[in-house]
Amino acid sequence: MTAFHQRVFSGVQPTGNLHLGNYLGAVKRFVALQQDYECIYCVVDMHAITVAQDPAELTAAIREVTAAFVACGIDPKKHIVFNQSQVSEHAELAWVFNCVARIGWLNRMTQFKEKAGKDRENASVGLYSYPNLMAADILVYKATHVPVGEDQKQHLELARDIAQKFNNDYAEAIAARGIAGGAFFPQPEPLIQGPAPRVMSLRDGTKKMSKSDPSDYSRLTFRDDADAIAQKIRKAKTDPEPLPSEVEGLEGRPEAENLVVIYSALADVSRESVLKDFGGAQFSTFKNALVDLAVARLGPISAEMKKLQSDHAYIDAILADGSARARAIAKPVMDQVKDIVGFIRS
Ligand code: TRP
Repeated sequence: MTAFHQRVFSGVQPTGNLHLGNYLGAVKRFVALQQDYECIYCVVDMHAITVAQDPAELTAAIREVTAAFVACGIDPKKHIVFNQSQVSEHAELAWVFNCVARIGWLNRMTQFKEKAGKDRENASVGLYSYPNLMAADILVYKATHVPVGEDQKQHLELARDIAQKFNNDYAEAIAARGIAGGAFFPQPEPLIQGPAPRVMSLRDGTKKMSKSDPSDYSRLTFRDDADAIAQKIRKAKTDPEPLPSEVEGLEGRPEAENLVVIYSALADVSRESVLKDFGGAQFSTFKNALVDLAVARLGPISAEMKKLQSDHAYIDAILADGSARARAIAKPVMDQVKDIVGFIRS
């Protein structure tokens, strides 16, 4: 086995108005990984256009996600923060992977079926081959670890299959270049740091918190100031019982469970410990404590994001610098791929 350098890659789609679920499920984890890995965090603008986007909104969303990364504590100097389209090697490798992956593999992708819906004939080809681009994102850096949510596990498995098939299909050419065992691309592994908190809608504890919920009261976002955070939490749906003192007591009480989950994730403590402190309390008391906690944790991030986003030149310079450093890693890998495949380059 070739020893690959431990490198994390992850991508986030540029969507405006990141919410608490995005923060707790992804960005907060990205921040923690900086301690132990070399991290590359990518705003995947090319993935975004697999479905229709308003160009001006897309531009704003790329900046907004970049600002969120930085405001949450990702260090764009020690690590890499950039947008996908500025490093053309992603698209180049994705093309090679379009020719490595099999139609049968892509036909099994459940996310395509969900996103394309009934009118599959009318979905973009990009939406269909989306997982090949995602594999290219990861493998053009020979990344070894990928923090992903449940919904992306199948795509990551496909990336592993593509890596392996490339290594097999081109085993001879790879060996001729002195790389042992056909192990040109590593098998990227999912990074799961404990179960991700399932953050549900504040209006309905059985639905995931989502940017597409028509009610703005269903989610906490980085655009909310302290007043908005307080209002949304005070209006959050609950049930008439006081909080239980044991986690088992949350069963069948999705709204109560959600608020406890949010509290525990924001405070970085277990749900047991939250219920030790608040078991028997009325929701009014618990909500006051949750408002204070949420304002303390999210307030500074929203304020910093606002500041950063008002300075386009600053954000764009972070992306330009990150892209240049990303390309410095991706270009030699892509050059080798071209040689392995048999292309001529100058
Ligand atoms: N498909 C991922 C999502 O929608 C985003 C993504 C694109 C990604 N490329 C990636 C995630 C590479 C991890 C690694 O969430």
